[in-house]
Amino acid sequence: NRQSMLPATARAVRVVAHRGASHEHPEHTLAAYRQAIADGADALECDVRLTADHKLVCVHDRRVERTSDGRGVVSEMTYAELSALDFGAWKGAGHAGARVLLFEDLLREALAAPRPVGLAVETKHPTRAGGRLEAELVRMLGEYGLADGSTGRVEVMSFSRNALVRTHRLAPGLPTVFLIEHRVRPVRPPYATHAGPGIDLVRRDPGLVARLKAKGLSVRVWTVDEPQDVELCVRLGVDTIITNRPKQVREQLEAR
Ligand code: G3P
Ligand code: CA
Repeated sequence: NRQSMLPATARAVRVVAHRGASHEHPEHTLAAYRQAIADGADALECDVRLTADHKLVCVHDRRVERTSDGRGVVSEMTYAELSALDFGAWKGAGHAGARVLLFEDLLREALAAPRPVGLAVETKHPTRAGGRLEAELVRMLGEYGLADGSTGRVEVMSFSRNALVRTHRLAPGLPTVFLIEHRVRPVRPPYATHAGPGIDLVRRDPGLVARLKAKGLSVRVWTVDEPQDVELCVRLGVDTIITNRPKQVREQLEAR
């Protein structure tokens, strides 16, 4: 894979915009992703969920209350119901009117960017959807010629090992990232080709990065917003930094 071939210099670190440029903009909105592309992000991170009518939407939480003016559970609402909500105003009046983002629209946005922009897609609570989420994701990626992994533009991430196993069965060529948060869990190819530890875990156990790399796994660390954490990641040879502040991280890397 492209990343693991690159030397671990600051310039080679890939910057992924977590939920878009979500420090400044409401997360998972078109505005947040457009800003991330303008900020020079190499790829866009998004969380995907299935609506009641089986549309893939970019929403982090199980419920809509935190990031919209509505109430309810994403998987129990239709896309039309979600589309009626304001997903921007919670971030400030200037962002009012932002709509829920269909995964397909994010995909088109990334493909239309003036330079190659990747997508890091995280399946949220895929097990509850009984495999339908992965099936729909792989089907959608297939429509755009992105399911076989040959373009190197898309990877699928999950905290759920089963979800990655299902994704790998459906699309064996797609890179998959096993996310780890509180404690180290074994990360094994083929269902996981990369590892995604959280920054708290990396701070507690910096040797983890070298151990994962020794197994041939490239390492994506989230969510890295503080300059000292960016520095730590570079020093440890992390391949990819996932951040809410792509512009700041990009500038810090370029100033080294
Ligand atoms: O990039 C992985 C990271 O997004 C996982 O945590 O809660 O922000 O989805 P969360
Ligand atoms: Ca996520």
